[in-house]
Amino acid sequence: MPDADKSALHSQKSLDQALRPSLWDDYIGQPTIKENLRILLAAAKGREQQPEHVLLYGPPGLGKTTLAHLITREIGTSLRSTSGPAIERVGDLAAILTNLSPGDVLFIDEVHRLNRAIEEVLYPAMEAGVLDIVIGKGPSARTVQLELPPFTLIAATTRISMLSAPLRSRFSGGTFRLTYYTEDEIVRILTRSSEILGITADAESIREVARRSRATPRTANYLLKRARDFAAVTGEAMSAKTVRKALALLEIDELGLNQTDRDILTALVDKFEGKPVGLKTLAAALSEEDATVEEVHEPYLMQLGLLERTPRGRMVTDKGYLHIGYEKKKPTLGL
Ligand code: ADE
Repeated sequence: MPDADKSALHSQKSLDQALRPSLWDDYIGQPTIKENLRILLAAAKGREQQPEHVLLYGPPGLGKTTLAHLITREIGTSLRSTSGPAIERVGDLAAILTNLSPGDVLFIDEVHRLNRAIEEVLYPAMEAGVLDIVIGKGPSARTVQLELPPFTLIAATTRISMLSAPLRSRFSGGTFRLTYYTEDEIVRILTRSSEILGITADAESIREVARRSRATPRTANYLLKRARDFAAVTGEAMSAKTVRKALALLEIDELGLNQTDRDILTALVDKFEGKPVGLKTLAAALSEEDATVEEVHEPYLMQLGLLERTPRGRMVTDKGYLHIGYEKKKPTLGL
């Protein structure tokens, strides 16, 4: 292993960076997105033009940031990374945009949290490569137009529905939805991660981690590291049995659900007696943030078919009842 990679293993942040693929060939899954991006980038290169702006959306941990890094590498420039909530004033965005070097990629994570006044500065920057700055106030105020270096905006969000229509329509390079990974794809990701981390894990233990990974690479890598720690401390070899023990200690069940996921199902069934419940009521009952319930927990519960969002509120499905130990769905009389 090169020295740079070895030293990367010392800190947690760099550990995650070491697992992040830096080559397209190492990026597993999302085949349609990879192919579309490959064509977008190759065509722009052929025309010697800056690739158009791209919007990536989907649940957390599926690799939106990783794709932004890969796109930047393909263009051969630098990535400037920020996030919606970090850009508090128009001046913050103006500073970022005017400091870009020609060809750079600007990555804005959590773009749905960008405030509307700032969005409006972004429109002409995306469309015409210019920045309109208002100088002064009142009758003497005037607008100065600055020309920006060519750049590609890559925006990422877990909440596409919260983006305004004018912003959404400006991603002329495309809008791509990242989907959950198949178990086999997660197995391939974990096999690669084990090699990088120097973990000797047999196929069965890797499969066991994959099965409980919520179909999400970030979670899979996290569980692999926790299982490795458990094996190291208990002195056990990495086996499927060790993995099961390590994950049981983390309260992760055989479907990959954690305690909060199960609390959501149990609250809906017991506390709210199986009736439809609104997001705010449900989150308050669990002392969780609305956004965490909606963006982190519910998507995977719905993916597994344990929960459904109905027009009247959240409800547990028959399969959900079975998972938390009820024989079948309770009758909800009068509904
Ligand atoms: N690590 C995180 N996401 C990945 C992916 N899609 N392929 C390979 N390794 C990953």
